[in-house]
Formats: sequence, structure tokens, C-alpha cells
Amino acid sequence: MTESSLTRAQEKRSSLFGSTSSTTNAFRLIDGEGDQLPGIILDCLDTVWLVSTRDRSLPRLFTTPRPGVTALYWKRLDQDQKEAPQWIWGEKREAPFLVIENGVHFELSLQAGYSQGIFLDQRENRSRLRHRARPGDRVLNTFSYTCAFSVVAALSQAVTTSLDLSNTYLTWGKRNFQANGIDPSSQYFCKGDALTWMHRFAKQGRRFHGIILDPPTFSRSREGTFSVRKDYHRLVAAAAAIIEPEGWLLATSNDRGLTHARFESLVRQGVIKGRRQITKLTPTSMPPDFTGEPYLKSLWVDLRG
Ligand SMILES: C[S@@+](CC[C@H](N)C(=O)[O-])C[C@H]1O[C@@H](n2cnc3c(N)ncnc32)[C@H](O)[C@@H]1O
Repeated sequence: MTESSLTRAQEKRSSLFGSTSSTTNAFRLIDGEGDQLPGIILDCLDTVWLVSTRDRSLPRLFTTPRPGVTALYWKRLDQDQKEAPQWIWGEKREAPFLVIENGVHFELSLQAGYSQGIFLDQRENRSRLRHRARPGDRVLNTFSYTCAFSVVAALSQAVTTSLDLSNTYLTWGKRNFQANGIDPSSQYFCKGDALTWMHRFAKQGRRFHGIILDPPTFSRSREGTFSVRKDYHRLVAAAAAIIEPEGWLLATSNDRGLTHARFESLVRQGVIKGRRQITKLTPTSMPPDFTGEPYLKSLWVDLRG
């Protein structure tokens, strides 16, 4: 790991986000192999650097303070331990703080556990959603986490429903609405299992113009276990059944074990099972700061029927 590879990665990002970055200050600065720095992920979160490694040791390059960076935190990429990042140097960020992405504010926390409040790899989809959602559209954001997708849809005057198993994340999501001048009481929030709620909406006759499906690879709820490989088509079917006649679906997954072709096939199966037809299928790429493995699969699906 050398200073020159880090400089190259920084130059690449400053051409993407500008050196003072007033509209986006949260992005991936190093993406492992993609930046010739295997095993190292570095996210720039405002003036904080968050380094993630699979190794048990922090590369020497990150052990001493650097100009322009106020603090460095380190996270071990360990799916079993899932620990919160550890402070290494600089001013501790003990309170939640805001970052900005394409002019939208999101609250982050380095104390909240393994995830910090935003998935930076979904930036392109959030940006697309901002343009896709229309005033008055009803948009359902399943697995909403901190409601990042809901906030951008609401900024386009859509009426959003955020659905998540966790009340803590839904409450965090309400703060994200407030951070962008939107009164959360103008939006809807449902706590519970995504499939159960979509079946309930179907029975109630509730329909949405657009639905976002971005589940974790694996999850457990009172209703049982969910896995992308086993259940994604069921999710798509349940969503397709409650989408307005000319509506859309954003189907996305970060399951690294699933190929793009297999993912598309699960989505197509789900649409058929939901008795709908696809009029257009548009894949989106990962944001340009994600230079490594293209693990994120995203399909915008236009439906009819
Ligand atoms: C990977 S995050 C989703 C990220 C989110 N789509 C975003 O772009 O920020 C996973 C979220 O799914 C929620 N979750 C997990 N299993 C769920 C289920 N069966 N039904 C609803 N939400 C679930 C978790 O509580 C967590 O907030």
C-alpha cells in the first residue's frame, strides 16, 4: 500500500466530486482492487475517513493524521462480528452528523453499529429515483433502513411509505426527512416484515406507482428467514401485484454470490408470478467511485397489465 496509489485514487475522485465537494461529500475514495489497493476500502464521509479492511491490521498509511481529514475510523469487514468502527485518530465524532449527496442531507453515525446510515453504492439509484418520482406518486420503499430512497422520492413530491423491521431505523429515517425540510408526518411508516406487509396492502387494495426492493442478502424475522437467492422472486411477485397498471419497480441486490443473469431471471420469474408484464427493463451501473467488483445488481422494471 503506497502513498502514490492513494494519491491516484484521490485525483480520480476529485475529478468526480470536486475538491471542495459542496453537493456530495460522501463517497468511496478507495475501492480495493479497482484502485490497485486490494483489501482496502476507504469511504470519505464529510471530513472523516472510514477505512474498512478484512485484515486484522490497519495499513501503516492510515495510522498517522493527514491534512484535511479530521478523524480516521477503522472497521473490520467481518460478517460474523459486525462491530462498529473503531476510532484511530483525530477529533472523535461521537454525535450523529450530516453528509450531503447531490444536495440531499443524510444523518450518519459512527456509533450505531456495523452500518453508518447510508449505502453509498446506491447513489445512482437514488439520483434516478429523484427524476423518476412525480408529484403525488405513491412510492413504497421496502427494507427502507434509514429511508434514504424515501427522502429523495419525497423531495420530488411523492408520498412515500417506508417499510422496515426496525423501529430504530424508521426513527432515524424520520430525522433524515427533517434534515431535508420534510415533515415526516406527511409520509407513512410501517414497522414489520416486507412480504407480510405487501400481502396486507394487496388485501386492502392499496396500490403504489413505484416500489423499491433492496433487501439484505439474508434476514430473519418473526415470519421466518428471508434469503435473496431463495425468496427474491416472491418479493417481486408480491410487489408486482400492488403496483399501479403503468407503474415501476426498482429491484436491486448486493448479494455477491448471485450473478447479474441469475438476478434478472429471478426478477422476471417474480413478474410472471405477480401476473404482470415487463415493458422495459433498465439496468443501472454502480457509481463511478465504486471501481472494484460490480457486485450491485439493479434493474428498473416498467410494468403493465
Ligand atoms: C441492506 S439494508 C437496506 C438498505 C436500504 N434499502 C437503503 O438503501 O438504505 C437492510 C434493511 O432491511 C431491514 N430488514 C431486514 N429484514 C427485513 C424484513 N424481512 N422486512 C422488512 N425489513 C427488513 C433491516 O432492518 C435493514 O434496515
